[in-house]
Amino acid sequence: MKKTIAFLLLISTVVVLINSCKHEVPILTVDTTPQTGPVANNGVCFESEILPLFQSNCAKSGCHDAATHSEDLILDSYANIMRKDIVPGRADNSKIYRVLFETGKDKMPPAPNADLTAAQKALIGKWINEGAKNTVNCNVTCDTTQFKYGATISVIMSTFCTGCHSGTAPSGNIDLTTYAKVKIQVDNGRLVGAVTQAAGYAAMPKDANKLKDCQITQVKKWVAAGAPNN
Ligand code: HEC
Repeated sequence: MKKTIAFLLLISTVVVLINSCKHEVPILTVDTTPQTGPVANNGVCFESEILPLFQSNCAKSGCHDAATHSEDLILDSYANIMRKDIVPGRADNSKIYRVLFETGKDKMPPAPNADLTAAQKALIGKWINEGAKNTVNCNVTCDTTQFKYGATISVIMSTFCTGCHSGTAPSGNIDLTTYAKVKIQVDNGRLVGAVTQAAGYAAMPKDANKLKDCQITQVKKWVAAGAPNN
């Protein structure tokens, strides 16, 4: 009996030690509301806030797009994203969330891609904890009278574009992570050409839905106003 207790104590000490070596993944509040298909609610919006992050950061050629499906993961649509590695209501148990906090070779997206921002990681965690629902047409409004760089344009860039256009080897050698770098693409006419998908330009965002008309209007209005750093 004593031996059994000593053994159990030893095992639990080892378990505690192993756990303490793991990377700290922020614990968020848990909501296990069952998934009910496409829904509209006031939580995180899958369609406009989460899907573009997966499409631009993960579903790239050579990574988790349909053609490559690295690790048997295709992260380009709700159905495909939900196939594995997400436990609705439990971000802390979801591999897709945990790898965002890894370092070295386990980190996602891997080098030379830039990490997601802390706010983007938190948003994905919140969405999973809200039940990882297929929320569409939700709370996110788009207002064509709002087109400041800080509040609107840089958010469009970081949601739809910087997954590819960042890091040490940005796609097309175009970095869109700072005002100065976005301004280069304004001045050479490529930003508007790409997002309006005009003839003669590569259609952006690549391999994803075209930006909403309202978002394209915001970009065009900002450029027409001289693309100020406001
Ligand atoms: C999945 C990766 C990916 C995403 C997401 C993406 N791009 Fe690109 N982008 C590329 C690649 C790759 C190129 C180089 C041209 C090509 O191969 O199509 C490129 C080229 C461009 C160009 C040059 C176009 C030209 O014709 O010279 C601009 C401007 C651009 N992207 C802007 C954007 C903007 C703005 C967004 C977000 C709305 C965006 N990209 C999203 C991968 C991406």
